[in-house]
Amino acid sequence: MTTLRAEAVRKTYRSDAGDVIAVDDVSFTVEDREFVSVVGPSGCGKTTLLRLFAGLETPTAGRVLVDGERIEGPSPERAMVFQSFNLFDWRTVRGNVAFGLERQGVPEAERRERVDDWLDTVGLADFADAYPDELSGGMRQRVGLARALAVDPDVLLMDEPFGALDAQTRAVLQSELLDLWEDRRTTVLFVTHDIEEALLLSDRVLVMGAAPNAVTRTVDVPFERPRHGRELETTPAFAEYRREIWDHLRGEQ
Ligand SMILES: Nc1ncnc2c1ncn2[C@@H]1O[C@H](COP(=O)(O)OP(=O)(O)O)[C@@H](O)[C@H]1O
Ligand SMILES: [Mg+2]
Repeated sequence: MTTLRAEAVRKTYRSDAGDVIAVDDVSFTVEDREFVSVVGPSGCGKTTLLRLFAGLETPTAGRVLVDGERIEGPSPERAMVFQSFNLFDWRTVRGNVAFGLERQGVPEAERRERVDDWLDTVGLADFADAYPDELSGGMRQRVGLARALAVDPDVLLMDEPFGALDAQTRAVLQSELLDLWEDRRTTVLFVTHDIEEALLLSDRVLVMGAAPNAVTRTVDVPFERPRHGRELETTPAFAEYRREIWDHLRGEQ
């Protein structure tokens, strides 16, 4: 069981021009096994919010909790996937996926088996010995996903993971992520500025606005699962939700 909770969270950064308010009085809960997306314009504090849950930042005020406990720092229980992939360039695909398992002290034989399973799952078995710079963007993000999921985390924190991919590759990876999640049901907090992506993937969408950088609306997404991108995105209901969030975001700017 893993729930995430933000309680009146505020985060300010010091800069030469004075304090920057990155997140202002944000409260929400992500229930166990829930898939929640955060959408909002650039600079509204999405990445900061994820970094707070990753334990990479501490709140200036308020509390960030996992299962009711204050987050004290990074933990392998909360895996992060980045837009820029953040792979280890000097490690092979296998070495990247093995990273978290090495840190956890998983014995070599078991590690190898689990890594091979993940490489199969994300369709990279033939590229186990390749280096990141030999891979396409889509393949790199499959490595990023496999690396995050290989440690069997309780929580997946994803920061615009498909934002750097072309539209077609993005659609393929979205559908792969849906399949994986429907299989495993990890608690997910997913940041995107793509409204359609948020609606396709999530149980709930938190809409953030700029100035103040806060959650200004929460939208429950009622579409049945399993979901199929192409079909769902052409339904009138999907168009209606998209417009509702779009109108709300426009009003915020
Ligand atoms: N390390 C930092 N130092 C100073 N300001 C920062 C830092 N990180 C983010 N900010 C500022 O905080 C605000 C929110 O940033 P961020 O969380 O990256 O938003 P988003 O991911 O939605 O684009 C922005 O105004 C950004 O410039
Ligand atoms: Mg960001």
